[in-house]
Amino acid sequence: MKKWVTDKDSKGYYWPSEEAKSYAWVKDEKIYEEAAKDPIAFWDKKAREGISWFKPWKKTYLWKPPYYKWFIGGKLNVCYNCVDRHVESGKGKKPAIIWIPEPMNEEKKVLTFEELHKEVQKFANVLKELGVKKGDRVTIYLPMIPEAQIAMLACARIGAIHSVVFSAFSPESLRARIDDAKSKVLITSDGYYRRGKIVELKKNADEAVSGKSPIKKVIVVKRAGNQVEMKKKRDFWWHELMAKAKEKCAPAKLDSEQPLFILYTSGTTGKPKGVIHVNGGYIVMAYWTSKYVFDLHDEDIFWCTADIGWVTGHTYNCYGILATGSTLLFYEGTPDFPDKDRWWKIVEENKVTIFYTAPTAIRMCAQWGSEWPAKHDLSSLRLLGTVGEPIDQQAWSWYFENIGGSRCPIVDTWWQTETGATLITTLPGVGPFIPTVAGRTFPGVTADIVDAEKNSVSGDMGGYLVLKSPFPPSLLRGLWKAEKKYIETYWLSYDKEFYSTNDGARRVDNKYIRITGRVDDVMNVSGHRISTAEIENAIASHKNVAECAVVSQPHPIKGEAPFAFVVLKEAQPSEQLKNELFETVRVKIGPIAKPEVIAFADALPKTRSGKIMRRMLRALVTNQPIGDTTTLLNPESIEQLKKVVGYKG
Ligand code: WTA
Repeated sequence: MKKWVTDKDSKGYYWPSEEAKSYAWVKDEKIYEEAAKDPIAFWDKKAREGISWFKPWKKTYLWKPPYYKWFIGGKLNVCYNCVDRHVESGKGKKPAIIWIPEPMNEEKKVLTFEELHKEVQKFANVLKELGVKKGDRVTIYLPMIPEAQIAMLACARIGAIHSVVFSAFSPESLRARIDDAKSKVLITSDGYYRRGKIVELKKNADEAVSGKSPIKKVIVVKRAGNQVEMKKKRDFWWHELMAKAKEKCAPAKLDSEQPLFILYTSGTTGKPKGVIHVNGGYIVMAYWTSKYVFDLHDEDIFWCTADIGWVTGHTYNCYGILATGSTLLFYEGTPDFPDKDRWWKIVEENKVTIFYTAPTAIRMCAQWGSEWPAKHDLSSLRLLGTVGEPIDQQAWSWYFENIGGSRCPIVDTWWQTETGATLITTLPGVGPFIPTVAGRTFPGVTADIVDAEKNSVSGDMGGYLVLKSPFPPSLLRGLWKAEKKYIETYWLSYDKEFYSTNDGARRVDNKYIRITGRVDDVMNVSGHRISTAEIENAIASHKNVAECAVVSQPHPIKGEAPFAFVVLKEAQPSEQLKNELFETVRVKIGPIAKPEVIAFADALPKTRSGKIMRRMLRALVTNQPIGDTTTLLNPESIEQLKKVVGYKG
């Protein structure tokens, strides 16, 4: 069996094996050095090399604070780059999407690039027939079925701007996003499978567009076969429209800076922000990060577990991966249906080579136990990835050993909805892979760690992670109809000079970047800056801890003090265990980081994408209003926690 990493070195770092190096696209420092010398020239070259353009650009980069443009005057089509060119180069028969339905008695479906090409053209014609034009918004509210990618690519083909809304969002959330974008067309399905039951998606969609709505037409994919109401003249079946659609649709020649999609994401306020991404810069970085970070080769089967409704789904379940002409696997259901080994069964049966998921999912699998992956042959895997939050040492090791068989590197990819593509990680042929450390900036990306006065912090001190000009080509081009918010959120802290990621970070070995968590999760305890993520990391390293979250609680002497919520594995809560956890934090970070309170809980409140809702935990420990819990994955967790903390409201 091939080993893609060396054994741990004396510092606890892993390096690419000789085998991995000879296989990798990037094997040494050269590309980093070349890119750092002249990032604009680097992206200019990479944009030509990776992407097909109808017309080259006149100017590569323009920066007028706080706005920037890339590949100005260039014309391209993202759908052409993801589909047509692979058919033209003779890869038409290669699988583009392998779709795995949740029900075990249903066959998987394989869509080759040729088939995808046909479907996308037809659906582009369907949209045109319904009156969708360049620049119009189309909302996509679909489950994890290939019609999602077909719909996105069809929009990209004709220059319509899609806004994908996560299928588990409520009708209210969907309505807010439709209204903000003023979408004309909504694409949804009758239902979908979730842990063996049918979720009636069309009902939610109906509720979201009832009464006054900009939506004029609704296209419904028949997926689960449940009964739905079809409103005359407004609702149409996908398959009926497709049966009548014309076969050919030429890709529109679109401006590099023309918006490709809007994706709503939550900020510090309750109202979601519509992050805008444009055709040129986005696809250039989606392509190169896919190729280099996942080291994609022709024979790979890439699987990203992220929902298509998140940015990770957009970039690594659609655009980036398809642009490289690689095969992606797309799974409809949950990891525990019909049993807790479903993911590993899929890896084994489909010989998945690259697996990309979130730390929260890894912790969940670890909590279920290593006997589940142990039932399966996972030797096809070559590379593992994580995204979405800092990964603690314990989750990292569990993933590395139990899924990667201690043979596969883990690329910890740091990025944001706003950045469109991975900006900080470790390339698999370069290394080193350091648990809990994301790595270095991707070639051509200029990031820094600064203090509040814009000074770069020295050595391994902590600070704020910012981006500097030239900004990454795939960085957002604004917030939909919210310019003021755009400036406030990303630019005001540093006089419109740096882009604020709103994340904290510190260097390791003066070179590699460890993300310490959102800046709003950083505490100041007795004048010491401590990241909640660092304390969480320490607590989670205890063998009995399944998951934990630390929030800041006001403290009369220290200013702020850490309050820890801890979910245990099998163990029972006890004073002794609590003391062990206090001791663990003291040993790992120091007495200063010791939580004031450790509260044992059955579960932590989570968003539907699996992120812990620290805002609500903070409200609980400060007796502030908790806010709307209906969009949570597990609203019931809040009731239990109220008792645990003695919440007075
Ligand atoms: C966090 C997800 C540590 C970070 C692609 C960021 C991470 C926010 C990592 C963006 C990582 C993402 N290590 N933290 N590898 N990846 N984050 O917009 O706080 O859903 O600002 O994008 O997730 O979340 P978003």
